Amino acid sequence: MKNILVTGASGQLGQSLRQRCTAFPQLNLHFCQRADFDLEQPEQMARALDQHSVDAVINTAAYTAVDQAEKEPDRAFAINTKGVTDLARICAQKDIVLLHVSTDYVFNGASDKPYLEDHPTGPLGIYGQSKQQGELAVAAINPAHYIVRTSWLYGPYGHNFLKTMLKLAEQGKSLTITTEQTGSPTSTLDLADALLKLIEMAAPYGTYHFSNTGQTTWHGFAREIFTQTHQLDRVQLAETDEYPTFAKRPSYSVLDINKIEQTLQQPIRSWQEALAEVIHQL
Ligand SMILES: NC(=O)c1ccc[n+]([C@@H]2O[C@H](COP(=O)([O-])OP(=O)(O)OC[C@H]3O[C@@H](n4cnc5c(N)ncnc54)[C@H](OP(=O)(O)O)[C@@H]3O)[C@@H](O)[C@H]2O)c1
Repeated sequence: MKNILVTGASGQLGQSLRQRCTAFPQLNLHFCQRADFDLEQPEQMARALDQHSVDAVINTAAYTAVDQAEKEPDRAFAINTKGVTDLARICAQKDIVLLHVSTDYVFNGASDKPYLEDHPTGPLGIYGQSKQQGELAVAAINPAHYIVRTSWLYGPYGHNFLKTMLKLAEQGKSLTITTEQTGSPTSTLDLADALLKLIEMAAPYGTYHFSNTGQTTWHGFAREIFTQTHQLDRVQLAETDEYPTFAKRPSYSVLDINKIEQTLQQPIRSWQEALAEVIHQL
C-alpha cells in the first residue's frame, strides 16, 4: 500500500482524483486543500508529509489564473516556482516521489506538429514562465519525479470552459468563440486515471505528456459541447479569429502523447468520447 498526498484537493483535478481513486485500492490517498498544505508554507508541508508517512505527492495545486498572472506575476512565481521548488526540495530530503502537473503553455506554439516531451520550452506569458521554472526545479532537485504536462482541462468539478459554455447557453447568450488556438481538450477524469496508473505501476521517472486524443479550436470545442447537449440549434455560435486576452497563449499546443500511451499500455480515448462522459456526469 502506498501513501499518496494530493495537493490542491479543492481544484478541478484534485476533486477528479478523489472520484477516480476508488479504482486504485493499492493507493491510500490523502487529500489536502490549501489550508492544510500550502505551497507557500514549507514547514507546514514538511510536517504534513511526515504526519501521513507519504510515499508520493501528486501536486495539482497551482496558481492557474492565466490572464491575472500578467497583473500579479509575483503571486504566480511565488506559488508555481518558489512553492514548487520548496516542495521538490522537501520531497527529495524525505525520499518522496513527486508527481508534478504542468501545462502545454510552457511551449510557444510555433510548432506545427504535436510537441514531444523534450521539445524546447518557450512560454509566452507569466503563467507559462512560472510553470516552466517550477518544472525545471522539480527536475533538478528531485530525481524521483514525474512531470506530467497536460492541456485544456475540463471536468465535472470547479471552473472550466465546458461549464462556462453550458451556463452561457442556459442564459440564452449568443456566443462568439475564437478559432485562434488549436489544442486538445482533456478530461480531468482521464488525466486522474493516468496519474494514478503512473504511480501504481511505478513507471520510469521523467516527463510525460497527457491529453485526450485529437485536436480542435475553442470554437470547435464549444460546437461539440452544444452538439452533444442538443443545443446547437438554439445557441447562436459564431467564430472569430481574433480574441484579445491579457496573456498571450500558444496558437498551437497539441501534445504528443505516445510516450504515456506506451507506458500505460492502454489507448487514450478521443476528446469527444471523454467529453461525453463528463457531460453525462454533469
Ligand atoms: N486548467 C487547465 O486548463 C490546465 C491546463 C494545463 C495544465 N493545468 C495544470 O493542471 C493542474 C491542475 O489544474 P486545475 O485546473 O485543477 O486547477 P484549479 O482548479 O485552479 O485548482 C488549483 C488548486 O490549487 C490550489 N492552490 C492555489 N495556490 C495554492 C497554494 N499556495 N498552496 C496550495 N494550494 C494552492 C487552489 O486552492 P484554492 O481553491 O484555495 O484557491 C486550487 O484548489 C495545475 O498544475 C495546472 O497548472 C491546468
